[in-house]
Amino acid sequence: MQKIIITGGAGFIGSHVVRRFVRNYPQYSIINLDKLTYAGNLANLKDIEHEPNYRFVKGDIVDAPFIDQLFATEKPDAVIHLAAESHVDRSITDPIEFVSTNVVGTATLLNAARNYWKGNYDKTRFYHVSTDEVYGSLGETGLFTESTAYDPHSPYSASKASSDHFVRAYHDTYGLDTVISNCSNNYGSFHFPEKLIPLAINNIKQNKPVPVYGKGENIRDWLWVEDHARAIDLIFHQAKAGTTYNIGGHNEWKNIDLIRLLCQILDQKLGRTEGESAKLITFVTDRAGHDLRYAIDATKLKNELGWIPSITFEQGLDKTVDWYLDNQQWLNDVTSGNYQQYYQQQYAKR
Ligand code: NAD
Ligand code: DAU
Repeated sequence: MQKIIITGGAGFIGSHVVRRFVRNYPQYSIINLDKLTYAGNLANLKDIEHEPNYRFVKGDIVDAPFIDQLFATEKPDAVIHLAAESHVDRSITDPIEFVSTNVVGTATLLNAARNYWKGNYDKTRFYHVSTDEVYGSLGETGLFTESTAYDPHSPYSASKASSDHFVRAYHDTYGLDTVISNCSNNYGSFHFPEKLIPLAINNIKQNKPVPVYGKGENIRDWLWVEDHARAIDLIFHQAKAGTTYNIGGHNEWKNIDLIRLLCQILDQKLGRTEGESAKLITFVTDRAGHDLRYAIDATKLKNELGWIPSITFEQGLDKTVDWYLDNQQWLNDVTSGNYQQYYQQQYAKR
Protein backbone atom coordinates (compact mmCIF):
# COMPACT_ATOMS: atom_id res chain seq x y z
CA MET A 1 0.00 0.00 0.00
CA GLN A 2 1.44 3.34 -0.99
CA LYS A 3 0.62 6.53 0.87
CA ILE A 4 1.04 9.73 -1.15
CA ILE A 5 0.78 13.32 0.05
CA ILE A 6 -0.36 15.53 -2.82
CA THR A 7 0.16 19.21 -1.98
CA GLY A 8 -2.08 21.88 -3.53
CA GLY A 9 -4.72 19.27 -4.32
CA ALA A 10 -7.58 21.74 -3.90
CA GLY A 11 -6.25 23.96 -6.71
CA PHE A 12 -6.76 23.73 -10.46
CA ILE A 13 -4.19 21.12 -11.58
CA GLY A 14 -3.88 19.52 -8.13
CA SER A 15 -7.58 18.63 -8.08
CA HIS A 16 -7.23 16.79 -11.40
CA VAL A 17 -4.15 14.95 -10.13
CA VAL A 18 -5.87 13.98 -6.87
CA ARG A 19 -8.98 12.77 -8.72
CA ARG A 20 -6.88 10.70 -11.14
CA PHE A 21 -4.86 9.02 -8.37
CA VAL A 22 -7.88 8.39 -6.11
CA ARG A 23 -9.86 6.82 -8.96
CA ASN A 24 -7.07 4.92 -10.75
CA TYR A 25 -5.23 3.61 -7.70
CA PRO A 26 -7.70 2.38 -5.07
CA GLN A 27 -4.78 0.55 -3.40
CA TYR A 28 -3.06 3.90 -2.67
CA SER A 29 -3.96 6.21 0.17
CA ILE A 30 -4.09 9.83 -1.04
CA ILE A 31 -3.72 12.75 1.35
CA ASN A 32 -4.53 16.15 -0.09
CA LEU A 33 -2.51 18.75 1.84
CA ASP A 34 -3.71 22.28 1.08
CA LYS A 35 -3.80 25.62 2.89
CA LEU A 36 -6.97 26.62 1.02
CA THR A 37 -5.80 30.03 -0.15
CA TYR A 38 -8.11 32.02 -2.46
CA ALA A 39 -7.10 29.49 -5.17
CA GLY A 40 -7.89 26.35 -3.18
CA ASN A 41 -11.45 25.10 -3.28
CA LEU A 42 -12.70 21.79 -1.89
CA ALA A 43 -15.71 22.04 -4.21
CA ASN A 44 -13.24 21.00 -6.96
CA LEU A 45 -13.17 17.54 -5.38
CA LYS A 46 -16.82 17.03 -4.39
CA ASP A 47 -17.13 13.91 -6.54
CA ILE A 48 -14.37 12.01 -4.73
CA GLU A 49 -14.45 13.49 -1.21
CA HIS A 50 -16.05 10.37 0.32
CA GLU A 51 -13.79 7.83 -1.37
CA PRO A 52 -12.18 5.54 1.23
CA ASN A 53 -8.64 6.12 -0.14
CA TYR A 54 -8.89 9.95 0.04
CA ARG A 55 -8.36 12.38 2.91
CA PHE A 56 -8.01 16.15 3.13
CA VAL A 57 -5.60 17.83 5.56
CA LYS A 58 -5.62 21.62 5.87
CA GLY A 59 -2.14 23.01 6.41
CA ASP A 60 0.60 25.35 5.27
CA ILE A 61 3.74 23.94 3.59
CA VAL A 62 5.75 26.83 5.07
CA ASP A 63 4.98 25.69 8.64
CA ALA A 64 8.00 23.41 9.33
CA PRO A 65 6.89 21.93 12.71
CA PHE A 66 3.49 21.09 11.21
CA ILE A 67 5.06 19.48 8.11
CA ASP A 68 7.56 17.46 10.20
CA GLN A 69 4.69 16.25 12.38
CA LEU A 70 2.61 15.35 9.33
CA PHE A 71 5.42 13.14 8.00
CA ALA A 72 5.81 11.48 11.40
CA THR A 73 2.10 10.72 11.81
CA GLU A 74 1.14 9.91 8.21
CA LYS A 75 4.35 8.04 7.24
CA PRO A 76 4.02 8.84 3.51
CA ASP A 77 5.97 6.95 0.84
CA ALA A 78 5.84 9.80 -1.66
CA VAL A 79 5.03 13.47 -2.15
CA ILE A 80 3.62 15.00 -5.32
CA HIS A 81 4.14 18.70 -4.79
CA LEU A 82 1.85 21.16 -6.59
CA ALA A 83 1.08 23.73 -3.85
CA ALA A 84 2.22 27.15 -5.00
CA GLU A 85 1.26 30.72 -5.58
CA SER A 86 0.67 30.39 -9.31
CA HIS A 87 -0.47 33.71 -10.84
CA VAL A 88 2.18 35.90 -12.51
CA ASP A 89 0.19 39.15 -12.07
CA ARG A 90 -0.17 38.54 -8.33
CA SER A 91 3.58 37.89 -8.11
CA ILE A 92 4.21 41.35 -9.55
CA THR A 93 2.00 42.90 -6.84
CA ASP A 94 3.19 40.73 -3.93
CA PRO A 95 6.50 38.96 -4.71
CA ILE A 96 7.36 38.04 -1.11
CA GLU A 97 4.31 35.75 -0.77
CA PHE A 98 5.75 33.84 -3.75
CA VAL A 99 9.18 33.53 -2.12
CA SER A 100 7.50 32.25 1.01
CA THR A 101 5.21 29.60 -0.48
CA ASN A 102 7.16 28.58 -3.57
CA VAL A 103 10.72 28.70 -2.26
CA VAL A 104 10.52 28.33 1.54
CA GLY A 105 7.49 26.00 1.31
CA THR A 106 9.26 23.68 -1.15
CA ALA A 107 12.48 23.68 0.91
CA THR A 108 10.44 22.93 4.05
CA LEU A 109 8.82 19.89 2.41
CA LEU A 110 12.17 18.69 1.03
CA ASN A 111 13.76 18.96 4.44
CA ALA A 112 10.97 17.04 6.14
CA ALA A 113 11.28 14.35 3.46
CA ARG A 114 15.07 14.25 3.81
CA ASN A 115 14.83 13.69 7.58
CA TYR A 116 11.88 11.35 7.65
CA TRP A 117 12.93 9.16 4.72
CA LYS A 118 16.61 8.86 5.72
CA GLY A 119 17.77 5.31 4.96
CA ASN A 120 14.79 4.77 2.64
CA TYR A 121 15.54 7.08 -0.27
CA ASP A 122 15.39 4.11 -2.65
CA LYS A 123 11.79 3.34 -1.59
CA THR A 124 10.41 6.89 -1.56
CA ARG A 125 9.91 9.73 -4.07
CA PHE A 126 9.56 13.53 -4.07
CA TYR A 127 7.88 14.69 -7.30
CA HIS A 128 8.03 18.45 -7.89
CA VAL A 129 5.57 19.97 -10.37
CA SER A 130 7.09 22.98 -12.08
CA THR A 131 6.58 25.26 -15.03
CA ASP A 132 8.07 26.10 -18.43
CA GLU A 133 8.32 29.74 -17.27
CA VAL A 134 11.64 28.92 -15.53
CA TYR A 135 13.26 28.85 -18.99
CA GLY A 136 12.36 32.48 -19.69
CA SER A 137 11.12 33.72 -23.03
CA LEU A 138 11.66 32.41 -26.57
CA GLY A 139 12.00 34.52 -29.70
CA GLU A 140 10.02 33.61 -32.80
CA THR A 141 11.69 30.20 -33.18
CA GLY A 142 13.02 27.41 -30.97
CA LEU A 143 11.57 25.25 -28.21
CA PHE A 144 12.38 24.72 -24.52
CA THR A 145 14.13 21.39 -23.91
CA GLU A 146 15.12 19.86 -20.57
CA SER A 147 18.62 21.32 -21.02
CA THR A 148 17.56 24.90 -21.80
CA ALA A 149 19.27 27.26 -19.33
CA TYR A 150 17.06 28.80 -16.64
CA ASP A 151 16.26 32.49 -17.27
CA PRO A 152 13.17 33.48 -15.26
CA HIS A 153 11.79 37.02 -15.52
CA SER A 154 8.79 37.36 -13.20
CA PRO A 155 8.84 36.97 -9.42
CA TYR A 156 6.62 33.90 -9.98
CA SER A 157 9.00 32.21 -12.41
CA ALA A 158 12.03 33.22 -10.32
CA SER A 159 10.43 31.56 -7.28
CA LYS A 160 9.62 28.38 -9.25
CA ALA A 161 13.16 28.31 -10.70
CA SER A 162 14.55 28.61 -7.19
CA SER A 163 12.33 25.77 -5.97
CA ASP A 164 13.55 23.57 -8.86
CA HIS A 165 17.15 24.29 -7.84
CA PHE A 166 16.41 23.23 -4.25
CA VAL A 167 14.85 19.98 -5.47
CA ARG A 168 17.96 19.16 -7.54
CA ALA A 169 20.21 20.20 -4.66
CA TYR A 170 18.44 17.74 -2.32
CA HIS A 171 18.94 14.97 -4.87
CA ASP A 172 22.59 15.79 -5.56
CA THR A 173 23.57 16.54 -1.94
CA TYR A 174 21.54 14.06 0.12
CA GLY A 175 20.54 11.47 -2.47
CA LEU A 176 16.80 12.08 -2.08
CA ASP A 177 14.81 10.47 -4.93
CA THR A 178 13.42 13.52 -6.74
CA VAL A 179 11.72 14.06 -10.09
CA ILE A 180 10.75 17.37 -11.72
CA SER A 181 8.41 18.14 -14.60
CA ASN A 182 8.11 21.52 -16.32
CA CYS A 183 4.79 22.01 -18.07
CA SER A 184 3.35 24.64 -20.39
CA ASN A 185 0.04 26.53 -19.86
CA ASN A 186 -2.83 24.32 -18.78
CA TYR A 187 -6.54 24.85 -19.44
CA GLY A 188 -9.70 22.96 -18.47
CA SER A 189 -12.33 22.66 -15.75
CA PHE A 190 -11.85 24.19 -12.26
CA HIS A 191 -9.37 26.78 -13.60
CA PHE A 192 -9.57 29.90 -11.45
CA PRO A 193 -10.90 32.83 -13.53
CA GLU A 194 -7.91 35.09 -12.90
CA LYS A 195 -6.07 33.19 -15.67
CA LEU A 196 -6.58 34.05 -19.33
CA ILE A 197 -8.89 31.30 -20.66
CA PRO A 198 -11.40 31.10 -17.76
CA LEU A 199 -11.32 34.88 -17.29
CA ALA A 200 -12.11 35.44 -20.98
CA ILE A 201 -14.92 32.84 -20.97
CA ASN A 202 -16.44 34.33 -17.82
CA ASN A 203 -16.26 37.90 -19.13
CA ILE A 204 -17.63 37.03 -22.58
CA LYS A 205 -20.48 35.18 -20.89
CA GLN A 206 -21.27 38.24 -18.80
CA ASN A 207 -20.82 40.72 -21.67
CA LYS A 208 -17.90 42.33 -19.83
CA PRO A 209 -14.71 43.70 -21.49
CA VAL A 210 -12.11 41.01 -22.23
CA PRO A 211 -8.72 42.50 -21.27
CA VAL A 212 -5.87 41.75 -23.70
CA TYR A 213 -2.42 42.74 -22.44
CA GLY A 214 -0.35 44.84 -24.86
CA LYS A 215 -1.07 43.95 -28.49
CA GLY A 216 -2.09 40.37 -27.69
CA GLU A 217 0.95 39.05 -29.56
CA ASN A 218 2.42 36.95 -26.75
CA ILE A 219 2.37 33.23 -27.43
CA ARG A 220 1.53 30.39 -25.05
CA ASP A 221 1.56 26.59 -25.61
CA TRP A 222 -1.75 25.25 -24.26
CA LEU A 223 -2.30 21.77 -22.81
CA TRP A 224 -5.51 20.18 -21.53
CA VAL A 225 -5.16 19.76 -17.76
CA GLU A 226 -6.17 16.09 -17.78
CA ASP A 227 -3.29 15.36 -20.18
CA HIS A 228 -0.96 17.06 -17.71
CA ALA A 229 -2.34 14.87 -14.90
CA ARG A 230 -1.80 11.78 -17.06
CA ALA A 231 1.81 12.83 -17.72
CA ILE A 232 2.39 13.33 -13.99
CA ASP A 233 1.01 9.83 -13.34
CA LEU A 234 3.41 8.29 -15.90
CA ILE A 235 6.44 10.25 -14.72
CA PHE A 236 5.69 9.58 -11.04
CA HIS A 237 5.60 5.83 -11.67
CA GLN A 238 8.30 5.42 -14.33
CA ALA A 239 10.93 8.19 -14.20
CA LYS A 240 14.41 7.51 -12.88
CA ALA A 241 15.51 9.39 -9.76
CA GLY A 242 16.98 12.83 -10.42
CA THR A 243 15.40 13.25 -13.86
CA THR A 244 13.40 16.07 -15.46
CA TYR A 245 10.68 15.95 -18.11
CA ASN A 246 9.14 18.77 -20.13
CA ILE A 247 5.40 18.49 -20.76
CA GLY A 248 3.63 20.47 -23.49
CA GLY A 249 0.95 20.35 -26.12
CA HIS A 250 2.77 21.47 -29.32
CA ASN A 251 -0.09 23.92 -29.42
CA GLU A 252 1.07 27.52 -29.70
CA TRP A 253 -1.45 30.33 -29.83
CA LYS A 254 -1.08 34.10 -29.94
CA ASN A 255 -3.25 35.48 -27.13
CA ILE A 256 -5.34 37.62 -29.49
CA ASP A 257 -6.05 34.68 -31.83
CA LEU A 258 -7.05 32.49 -28.90
CA ILE A 259 -9.39 35.16 -27.52
CA ARG A 260 -10.97 35.66 -30.96
CA LEU A 261 -11.52 31.88 -31.16
CA LEU A 262 -13.19 31.87 -27.73
CA CYS A 263 -15.44 34.74 -28.88
CA GLN A 264 -16.48 32.72 -31.95
CA ILE A 265 -17.16 29.58 -29.90
CA LEU A 266 -19.24 31.53 -27.39
CA ASP A 267 -21.17 33.39 -30.13
CA GLN A 268 -22.27 29.97 -31.38
CA LYS A 269 -22.98 28.40 -27.99
CA LEU A 270 -24.83 31.45 -26.64
CA GLY A 271 -26.79 32.04 -29.86
CA ARG A 272 -25.24 35.47 -30.44
CA THR A 273 -24.75 36.94 -33.91
CA GLU A 274 -21.31 36.33 -35.40
CA GLY A 275 -18.82 38.94 -34.19
CA GLU A 276 -20.89 40.10 -31.22
CA SER A 277 -18.58 38.75 -28.50
CA ALA A 278 -15.43 40.03 -30.27
CA LYS A 279 -16.68 43.58 -29.62
CA LEU A 280 -15.79 42.96 -25.95
CA ILE A 281 -12.05 42.66 -26.75
CA THR A 282 -10.25 45.52 -24.98
CA PHE A 283 -6.52 46.18 -25.25
CA VAL A 284 -5.05 47.18 -21.88
CA THR A 285 -1.61 48.08 -20.51
CA ASP A 286 0.87 45.24 -20.93
CA ARG A 287 2.10 43.04 -18.06
CA ALA A 288 5.50 44.20 -16.74
CA GLY A 289 8.32 41.93 -17.95
CA HIS A 290 5.84 40.03 -20.15
CA ASP A 291 7.51 36.94 -21.68
CA LEU A 292 6.92 36.87 -25.44
CA ARG A 293 6.70 33.17 -26.20
CA TYR A 294 6.71 29.79 -24.47
CA ALA A 295 6.87 26.51 -26.40
CA ILE A 296 7.80 23.09 -25.11
CA ASP A 297 9.70 20.27 -26.76
CA ALA A 298 8.15 17.18 -25.12
CA THR A 299 10.13 14.67 -27.24
CA LYS A 300 11.84 13.09 -24.21
CA LEU A 301 8.48 12.33 -22.58
CA LYS A 302 7.14 10.90 -25.84
CA ASN A 303 10.21 8.78 -26.61
CA GLU A 304 10.86 7.46 -23.11
CA LEU A 305 7.36 7.14 -21.63
CA GLY A 306 5.12 7.17 -24.73
CA TRP A 307 3.11 10.23 -23.69
CA ILE A 308 1.35 12.44 -26.24
CA PRO A 309 -1.73 14.65 -25.68
CA SER A 310 -4.93 12.60 -25.86
CA ILE A 311 -7.21 15.23 -27.38
CA THR A 312 -6.94 18.15 -29.81
CA PHE A 313 -7.16 21.78 -28.70
CA GLU A 314 -10.47 22.08 -30.54
CA GLN A 315 -11.92 19.20 -28.48
CA GLY A 316 -10.41 20.45 -25.23
CA LEU A 317 -11.64 24.03 -25.65
CA ASP A 318 -15.11 22.79 -26.54
CA LYS A 319 -15.27 20.67 -23.37
CA THR A 320 -13.86 23.55 -21.32
CA VAL A 321 -16.31 26.18 -22.59
CA ASP A 322 -19.20 23.75 -22.00
CA TRP A 323 -17.95 23.14 -18.45
CA TYR A 324 -17.96 26.88 -17.69
CA LEU A 325 -21.43 27.25 -19.21
CA ASP A 326 -22.73 24.33 -17.14
CA ASN A 327 -21.10 25.33 -13.85
CA GLN A 328 -22.34 28.84 -13.16
CA GLN A 329 -22.67 28.11 -9.44
CA TRP A 330 -18.96 27.22 -9.19
CA LEU A 331 -18.10 30.45 -11.04
CA ASN A 332 -20.42 32.47 -8.76
CA ASP A 333 -18.81 30.96 -5.68
CA VAL A 334 -15.21 31.61 -6.72
CA THR A 335 -15.86 35.10 -8.09
CA SER A 336 -17.73 36.42 -5.05
CA GLY A 337 -15.94 38.18 -2.18
CA ASN A 338 -12.20 38.64 -2.58
CA TYR A 339 -12.25 38.07 -6.33
CA GLN A 340 -14.20 41.30 -6.87
CA GLN A 341 -11.60 43.26 -4.95
CA TYR A 342 -8.73 41.57 -6.83
CA TYR A 343 -10.35 42.28 -10.18
CA GLN A 344 -10.88 45.97 -9.33
CA GLN A 345 -7.27 46.41 -8.24
CA GLN A 346 -5.78 44.40 -11.09
CA TYR A 347 -7.71 45.86 -13.98
CA ALA A 348 -8.53 49.41 -12.78
CA LYS A 349 -4.86 50.34 -13.04
CA ARG A 350 -4.68 49.14 -16.63
P1 NAD B 1 -3.54 26.99 -8.25
O1 NAD B 1 -3.19 28.40 -7.88
O2 NAD B 1 -4.84 26.73 -8.94
O3 NAD B 1 -3.52 26.07 -6.95
C1 NAD B 1 -2.53 26.16 -5.99
C2 NAD B 1 -3.00 25.39 -4.75
O4 NAD B 1 -1.94 25.46 -3.76
C3 NAD B 1 -4.25 25.95 -4.10
O5 NAD B 1 -5.15 24.92 -3.78
C4 NAD B 1 -3.73 26.63 -2.84
O6 NAD B 1 -4.68 26.67 -1.78
C5 NAD B 1 -2.53 25.76 -2.50
N1 NAD B 1 -1.53 26.48 -1.69
C6 NAD B 1 -1.02 27.72 -1.94
N2 NAD B 1 -0.16 28.06 -0.96
C7 NAD B 1 -0.10 27.01 -0.10
C8 NAD B 1 0.63 26.75 1.10
N3 NAD B 1 1.46 27.66 1.61
N4 NAD B 1 0.47 25.56 1.72
C9 NAD B 1 -0.39 24.62 1.21
N5 NAD B 1 -1.12 24.83 0.10
C10 NAD B 1 -0.98 26.00 -0.55
O7 NAD B 1 -2.32 26.46 -9.11
P2 NAD B 1 -2.30 25.54 -10.40
O8 NAD B 1 -2.49 26.36 -11.60
O9 NAD B 1 -3.16 24.36 -10.16
O10 NAD B 1 -0.76 25.08 -10.37
C11 NAD B 1 -0.35 23.96 -9.60
C12 NAD B 1 1.14 23.76 -9.76
O11 NAD B 1 1.45 23.55 -11.13
C13 NAD B 1 1.97 24.97 -9.33
O12 NAD B 1 3.13 24.52 -8.70
C14 NAD B 1 2.30 25.68 -10.64
O13 NAD B 1 3.52 26.37 -10.53
C15 NAD B 1 2.40 24.50 -11.58
N6 NAD B 1 2.08 24.77 -12.99
C16 NAD B 1 0.92 25.40 -13.34
C17 NAD B 1 0.61 25.57 -14.69
C18 NAD B 1 -0.68 26.23 -15.13
O14 NAD B 1 -0.86 26.46 -16.33
N7 NAD B 1 -1.62 26.53 -14.24
C19 NAD B 1 1.49 25.12 -15.68
C20 NAD B 1 2.68 24.49 -15.27
C21 NAD B 1 2.96 24.31 -13.94
O1 DAU C 1 3.45 28.49 -18.70
C1 DAU C 1 2.96 27.92 -17.52
C2 DAU C 1 2.34 28.99 -16.66
O2 DAU C 1 1.13 29.38 -17.28
C3 DAU C 1 2.11 28.55 -15.22
O3 DAU C 1 3.34 28.27 -14.61
C4 DAU C 1 1.37 29.63 -14.43
O4 DAU C 1 1.07 29.16 -13.12
C5 DAU C 1 0.08 29.96 -15.16
O5 DAU C 1 -0.61 31.00 -14.50
C6 DAU C 1 0.37 30.36 -16.61
O6 DAU C 1 1.08 31.64 -16.66
P1 DAU C 1 0.74 32.75 -17.78
O7 DAU C 1 1.19 34.05 -17.28
O8 DAU C 1 1.19 32.30 -19.12
O9 DAU C 1 -0.88 32.61 -17.76
P2 DAU C 1 -2.05 33.71 -17.74
O10 DAU C 1 -3.33 32.96 -17.92
O11 DAU C 1 -1.94 34.63 -16.58
O12 DAU C 1 -1.77 34.55 -19.06
C7 DAU C 1 -1.70 33.92 -20.33
C8 DAU C 1 -1.35 34.99 -21.35
O13 DAU C 1 -2.46 35.89 -21.48
C9 DAU C 1 -0.18 35.87 -20.96
O14 DAU C 1 0.55 36.21 -22.11
C10 DAU C 1 -0.83 37.12 -20.34
C11 DAU C 1 -2.13 37.24 -21.13
N1 DAU C 1 -3.30 37.80 -20.41
C12 DAU C 1 -3.61 37.30 -19.19
C13 DAU C 1 -4.70 37.76 -18.48
C14 DAU C 1 -5.05 37.21 -17.12
C15 DAU C 1 -4.08 38.76 -21.02
O15 DAU C 1 -3.80 39.21 -22.14
N2 DAU C 1 -5.16 39.23 -20.31
C16 DAU C 1 -5.50 38.78 -19.07
O16 DAU C 1 -6.50 39.29 -18.49
